[in-house]
Amino acid sequence: MSTILVTGGAGYIGSHTVVELVKAGYDPIIFDNFSNAKPAVLPRIKQICGRSVPFYAGDIRVREQMERPFKENKIDGVIHFAGLKAVGESVKKPLEYYDNNVHGSTVLLEVMRDYGCHNFIFSSSSTVYGEPDKVPLTEDSPIKRANSPYGQTKIDIEYMAEELQKAVPEFSVTLLRYFNPVGAHESGLIGEDPRGIPNNLMPYLTQVAVGRLECLTIFGKDYPTPDGTCIRDYIHVVDLATGHVAALKHCLDKPGVHIYNLGTGTGYSVIDMVKAFSKAIGHELPHKFGPRREGDVVCCYADPSKAKNELGWVATHTLEDMTRDAYNWQKNNPNGYDD
Ligand code: NAD
Ligand code: WQD
Repeated sequence: MSTILVTGGAGYIGSHTVVELVKAGYDPIIFDNFSNAKPAVLPRIKQICGRSVPFYAGDIRVREQMERPFKENKIDGVIHFAGLKAVGESVKKPLEYYDNNVHGSTVLLEVMRDYGCHNFIFSSSSTVYGEPDKVPLTEDSPIKRANSPYGQTKIDIEYMAEELQKAVPEFSVTLLRYFNPVGAHESGLIGEDPRGIPNNLMPYLTQVAVGRLECLTIFGKDYPTPDGTCIRDYIHVVDLATGHVAALKHCLDKPGVHIYNLGTGTGYSVIDMVKAFSKAIGHELPHKFGPRREGDVVCCYADPSKAKNELGWVATHTLEDMTRDAYNWQKNNPNGYDD
């Protein structure tokens, strides 16, 4: 079966994807610098998979380190998760985000080209669509100048990969635009473990639920939506992971550019999420309303029909699954992988 290098494979989405790759009979290799992950995830991946997954410690920006897995293995394809992803942090540190995300991706693609590895799957984001003119979003929805350096790095890396594919037609470039990944593997062994105070809604909810944080502040209740709070397309991280396996099956050794939205096609408001999470924990989650957060889009959810029609993939986990599994992970790991 194919050997797949998973950059950022020790991270939240990467670790869940490694598990699904093994389940699907692929041979993943993890490459990570642990800048936003903990080594403790590796034995847990082994426990879930029932076997070790080869690991290379390294930084995608350092060519000598990036080359090592290619020198020592025949890599059939790469799923590229490695990157910095905090929107707010990117506004304060644009150069670090461009160096890590864009320069790092450049080094990776150079090594892939030089070693004749032509299958590239990239972790993109619905953030490339900016504030949608209309929803649901399809892959043909307009790409807008991002409202953060982070989002712009996604647009720039997509463009770079598409241009490489034009220059080297043997390349198969797959751009997967994730909506809002949440939840965790049913075992509760792996999950989302953000550094510091979570920026994202779900890890904030789970940390309030286990008492690490006191109360959720809902950012704005005066948006033009049914209940006044923003709407998003939350997708279970395991569905996202199986979406990568489906993309691999369909796009491997298929030269060209393949773009897919990975979402459920259903939008939920912040209040919907608080209600669902309160139901999961059996009591109302402490929350209050605060001012809008700058940069938030009002409403964003996917039209996932292209992935269904071409990849045969649909998200199957429900909102109940998402909240249950997110809470289960946090309950079992109140301090994340530091436990
Ligand atoms: P994460 O931070 O958990 O995972 C990223 C991993 O990459 C981490 O393990 C980190 O240590 C590693 N990494 C970062 N820079 C590296 C470098 N220079 N060299 C080697 N390893 C490096 O984040 P995640 O939520 O799993 O996201 C994975 C990818 O998906 C990211 O590219 C992110 O932008 C993208 N994405 C995430 C979301 C989301 O909401 N989580 C949504 C859309 C897209
Ligand atoms: C969801 C909703 C908030 C926290 C971000 C990035 C995006 C992608 C996914 C990487 C919003 C509200 C949140 C809180 C709240 N990441 N909220 N109180 O902003 O849709 O997307 O993560 O690619 O690029 O922008 O996700 O979870 O931060 O927010 O009210 O404490 O929850 O206002 O409406 P978002 P989020």
